[in-house]
Amino acid sequence: MDQTLDRSTVVSSTPPASPSTRRLPPVVPGHPIAGSAFAMRRDPLRFLLDATHRYGEISRIRFFFSYAYMVNSAEGARHILQEHNRNYDKNTFDYHALARLLGKGLLTNDGAPWLRQRRLIQPAFHRQRLASFAAIMTGAAERTAEAWRAASAHGEPTDVAAEMMRLTLSVVGQALFGQNVEDDVAVVGRAGVSLSRIITDYVMRPLPPLDFPSARGRHFRAAKRELDAVTWRIIAERRRTGADTGDLLSMLLTARDEEGHGMDDQQVRDEVLTLLLAGHETTSTLLSWTWYLLSRSPDAERRLHEELATVLGGRIPGVDDLAKLPYTRRVLDESLRLYPPAWSLARNAVADDTIGGYTIPAHAAVILCPYTLHRHPDYWIDPERFDPDRFLPERVEARPRWAYIPFGGGPRQCIGNSFALMEAQLALATLAQRFQPRLAPGHTVLPEPVITLRPRDGLQMIIEAR
Ligand code: HEM
Repeated sequence: MDQTLDRSTVVSSTPPASPSTRRLPPVVPGHPIAGSAFAMRRDPLRFLLDATHRYGEISRIRFFFSYAYMVNSAEGARHILQEHNRNYDKNTFDYHALARLLGKGLLTNDGAPWLRQRRLIQPAFHRQRLASFAAIMTGAAERTAEAWRAASAHGEPTDVAAEMMRLTLSVVGQALFGQNVEDDVAVVGRAGVSLSRIITDYVMRPLPPLDFPSARGRHFRAAKRELDAVTWRIIAERRRTGADTGDLLSMLLTARDEEGHGMDDQQVRDEVLTLLLAGHETTSTLLSWTWYLLSRSPDAERRLHEELATVLGGRIPGVDDLAKLPYTRRVLDESLRLYPPAWSLARNAVADDTIGGYTIPAHAAVILCPYTLHRHPDYWIDPERFDPDRFLPERVEARPRWAYIPFGGGPRQCIGNSFALMEAQLALATLAQRFQPRLAPGHTVLPEPVITLRPRDGLQMIIEAR
């Protein structure tokens, strides 16, 4: 079984502090009524980064009448995600909002039902399984290469973010569901971005509720319907052929519990939609930011090209090449540090706890933010600089393990982390051998922190052939 699921290693939470020993973290000053709600809405990344610089590793952020506890240390991340994970569940407003779309899929589920589903789905991500996906991944990258060949000939800007979305959606569709969903990329991309924005807006401004006949509610329901149509079609298609291909979709449809009951349709839908969205949007953002960073870092780009030329000499990479391409991997690791697609993780404290000498009261909302943790000056020298060599083995050794959490950690760690890294490494190696995208003149790239941290207006680049 996956080590992250071995809960016997997990110790229980620290005993509750008595009222006299309670020491609450400093409050980030804000508006007398709204607290930090407006500042957070305006520019969450800047606000959270400033808060961690000024108020240290644990602070309280007030939103009108409630507080969120911001924890920004490697030790705090280990405490919440690993050591005391049973005290930090997903019973949060953020996750409830996401569950409006994803239902009880793996990402939003909790407790015993989550564990049952995780154990069931985990085998689809085992090492041997992943190795069999390599050809699907390079095949998708080859199709992108064809599009880029045409783009490099006409010299017009291409939206590289949209291209990466097409690539990763196609991989998830084929690898996990055995289906070609490439034609759905426009719908899934548009509806996905729209829902991501609506859900984030709803978390920041919960009124009116999503069920209300407001414009926001209507857009939410329309986009959800579009994604549902794709999801139900994927399920219906497999049911129609009745084939047990052994892929993840077959596993979901044929799974039986001890009493012989299968998963109901809604649960299958929730898992399929979760994996479809979580499985492509994050990896495509990783690849987009990587192209952006490389275009601005000639030295890193040159070293990447050198490694690819030496190891591959122009051929398509395979799974055995991955370990021989350490620089390619370091480029991706560093890209995940600067622009972690899952830029903020929310938890609810079940019972009173103590972190770094401060009390975290029961029912407190807790924020762990990979974006700020990955810029903490105690762990990262000159944090804004793109430097893939931070991930040389000896430098990784010298750093606390929990200073870097692009995939979370502990039992709720991303189930697709190896899938994503393998896909990104194969795609980058395939494409960077032949092309070097350059930012289109006049195109400004800004990170938009919605559910994932994406380039707000896409990524317009001129594709140059090498
Ligand atoms: C670069 C790509 C990716 C990043 C940065 C990423 C990040 C994350 C993070 C941080 C979490 C934990 C969330 C939390 O603790 O609150 C997570 C969970 C999850 N991810 Fe990923 N992910 C990526 C790719 C994928 C892929 C490729 C898949 C599936 C094919 C996937 C499926 C999931 C699922 C199902 C969960 C929930 C796991 C659970 O709670 O048991 N992710 N991901």
